[in-house]
Amino acid sequence: MVNIAVFASGSGSNAENIACYFKENKQVNVSLFLTNKPDAFVVERAKKLDIPCEIFNKKDFYETNNVLNVLKHNKVDFVVLAGFLWLVPENLLEAYPRRVVNIHPALLPAYGGKGMFGDNVHRAVVENKEKQTGITIHYVNTEYDKGDIIFQAKCVVEPTDIPEMVAEKVHKLEYLHYPEVLERLLLSVK
Ligand code: GAR
Repeated sequence: MVNIAVFASGSGSNAENIACYFKENKQVNVSLFLTNKPDAFVVERAKKLDIPCEIFNKKDFYETNNVLNVLKHNKVDFVVLAGFLWLVPENLLEAYPRRVVNIHPALLPAYGGKGMFGDNVHRAVVENKEKQTGITIHYVNTEYDKGDIIFQAKCVVEPTDIPEMVAEKVHKLEYLHYPEVLERLLLSVK
């Protein structure tokens, strides 16, 4: 059994989608959600799904081993970021080499880096009149959106699309592909 932990800072719709995808899976277990935002909707989703949810603050994350200890205590093998907006500290990356992955709502290296998250990305894509956008699933390193790319999928941006419409298309791609890509990676982990 591979245990995964999902980090999210906001709504957590990807976290929920991943948990539902692996619900009946005998080899993969979504054992834990973690968030830096006590009032994020992902906390409600965790309750509904009956998945424990750990809340941590900046000090826990960057100045102590508290978060790492929680992962170890829960026997977490693999870390999934889904709408998690903080850089991951080195102690975690060293403990989970090539076992921390993120999803980004654009075709990296375009529209990546600090401040490029969620709707900011879709607004920039529309402002620049891009003809396509998409998703990138990548390994996480110490820089925003710079780790090796694992998978990308594209969608069309129509000239009449507003950022909300682009967000909807991108979310659909995320829900479709993130769990499947994770499944492939996870089964090669153990
Ligand atoms: C997702 O679109 C994800 O790709 C994006 O935040 C959204 C979270 O939605 N992540 C980033 O922008 C990371 N730079 P969700 O909370 O509903 O899953």
